[in-house]
Amino acid sequence: MYNFLYRSLLARTDAEHSHHLALRVLRIIGNVPLARSSVERLTSCNIAGMSINALGLTFNHPLGLAAGFDKDASCLPGLTALGFSFVEVGSVTPRPQHGNEGKRIIRLLDDKALINRMGFPSIGAHEVAQRLQPLHHDTTPIAISLGKNKATSLEQAANDYQATLDCLYPYGDFFVINISSPNTANTCCPLCGRILWRREHQPNRC
Ligand SMILES: Cc1cc2nc3c(=O)[nH]c(=O)nc-3n(C[C@H](O)[C@H](O)[C@H](O)COP(=O)(O)O)c2cc1C
Repeated sequence: MYNFLYRSLLARTDAEHSHHLALRVLRIIGNVPLARSSVERLTSCNIAGMSINALGLTFNHPLGLAAGFDKDASCLPGLTALGFSFVEVGSVTPRPQHGNEGKRIIRLLDDKALINRMGFPSIGAHEVAQRLQPLHHDTTPIAISLGKNKATSLEQAANDYQATLDCLYPYGDFFVINISSPNTANTCCPLCGRILWRREHQPNRC
């Protein structure tokens, strides 16, 4: 089903549109109880003996969803129905921002790869909190990835992480600090501390 849908539909559309389409379908699945339970049945498998205990949490198996897919917590119930052992929301910035301009997800079909230079589009921590607050917490651990706003200087970055953590603390089971986004201006390499982009469109390699 995935190969058919991917080749006939998704691969022909703009990658960011495909991403939003997938989010929309998952939102519908999460909001319709019959659809949600059907997807849960479809994706359930025998995972006895694969559970992992870490960070004081139990993960049913080793496969979770990394940050970047559900940046704004728009379809968590749909994603947990797919059977991930955890879902990482974000990266969330303290204030809303649009991310980079122009085409920012590029498919390399021959290489079966993707270039991502979205630059942390985010509706901001407050809006994400509004979305997470009414959700019924099921057993799937929820991680929240914390990002800094593009306009925030490196010297002030810790304040951004702190502000988002304070706002979203009640809703995450664990938190990830995204200290380096190589496609965002003024972020630094976590290994050597060198600033990767001093100005927009002038990437440095480290
Ligand atoms: C379109 C796109 C957006 C992403 N956005 C984020 C993000 O906001 N925060 C983050 O920590 N990682 C982000 N990532 C990186 C993913 O979380 C993940 O590390 C990367 O896709 C590699 O995954 P893999 O090791 O399963 O191949 C993004 C990736 C893609 C393709």
